[in-house]
Amino acid sequence: MIPTKVIVHGVLGRMGQEVVHALCREPGLQLVGAVDIQAVANRIPLPNSKDSVLLSSDLEKVIKECKPDVIIDFSTAKAVLPAVSLAVRYGTNMVIGTTGLQTDELRTIDSLAKEYGVGVVVASNFALGAVMMIHLAKTAAKYFDSAEIIEKHHHMKVDAPSGTALTTAKAMADTRGKPFNRPISKEPSVSRGQQIEGIAIHSVRLPGILANQEVILSSPGQTLSIKHDTVNRECYMPGVILATKEVNGKKGLIYGLEKLLGLKGV
Ligand SMILES: NC(=O)c1ccc[n+]([C@@H]2O[C@H](COP(=O)([O-])OP(=O)(O)OC[C@H]3O[C@@H](n4cnc5c(N)ncnc54)[C@H](O)[C@@H]3O)[C@@H](O)[C@H]2O)c1
Repeated sequence: MIPTKVIVHGVLGRMGQEVVHALCREPGLQLVGAVDIQAVANRIPLPNSKDSVLLSSDLEKVIKECKPDVIIDFSTAKAVLPAVSLAVRYGTNMVIGTTGLQTDELRTIDSLAKEYGVGVVVASNFALGAVMMIHLAKTAAKYFDSAEIIEKHHHMKVDAPSGTALTTAKAMADTRGKPFNRPISKEPSVSRGQQIEGIAIHSVRLPGILANQEVILSSPGQTLSIKHDTVNRECYMPGVILATKEVNGKKGLIYGLEKLLGLKGV
């Protein structure tokens, strides 16, 4: 079997490094090049091997030399659209985990991908447990009128609320067909987190945490909590690997890992 050739964009970051390890463990995938704005060396060593691959801050140069099938992106939100614009022109599929993308940017990604006939998977959370958490929260959303989300992440995370919390709140409200009931305080100075679709999202940022989220749904006399905890970044890798294998042959934007898991809408 010819392996799928992969470039990692944002390779020197925390997620980029985890992806390198995961790719090197995966027989059907081959890391052929790496890109990071902070690159100073021109090769990056592969884990548990004497081999290395091309490293550069210049994405176009790495695409031209390595001819990847897929680019995996874990960089920063403002780097994503320029990377997609370049990748599609070379017919390269993309798997994007970078969070903080705006709706208009997602629309542009979809039209670029369709225009050039490539697939782009964008998922704000590649942890399969998180995808299940959102699916279960959507299922329960019709039966409760109030909900809040507490999301906890490491202190280096730049965005708040997290992409996963925003996705969860929007998905829950979509399923209900209306926003949740938001308790109104008579005291205007009371801070109740960021309100999305009637759901207050509380963002905790502390060292010692990776990524956790709890969705609490409530109605008089009862609450239902759906909670997902992670202990290290390996939790994202099965989802990233699945998307990298599935994106070949797709056309346009595939938004959310659940689309590749065959989870039925509720
Ligand atoms: N979708 C998911 O499941 C998931 C999981 C964890 C993190 N994330 C997201 O992934 C992104 C990266 O997270 P991280 O913790 O690895 O961050 P990080 O800061 O450790 O790594 C980002 C890397 O991108 C590089 N970079 C920045 N701008 C660039 C550019 N213009 N071109 C090339 N490289 C560039 C940086 O030099 C850095 O090495 C964030 O948006 C984060 O929220 C997503």
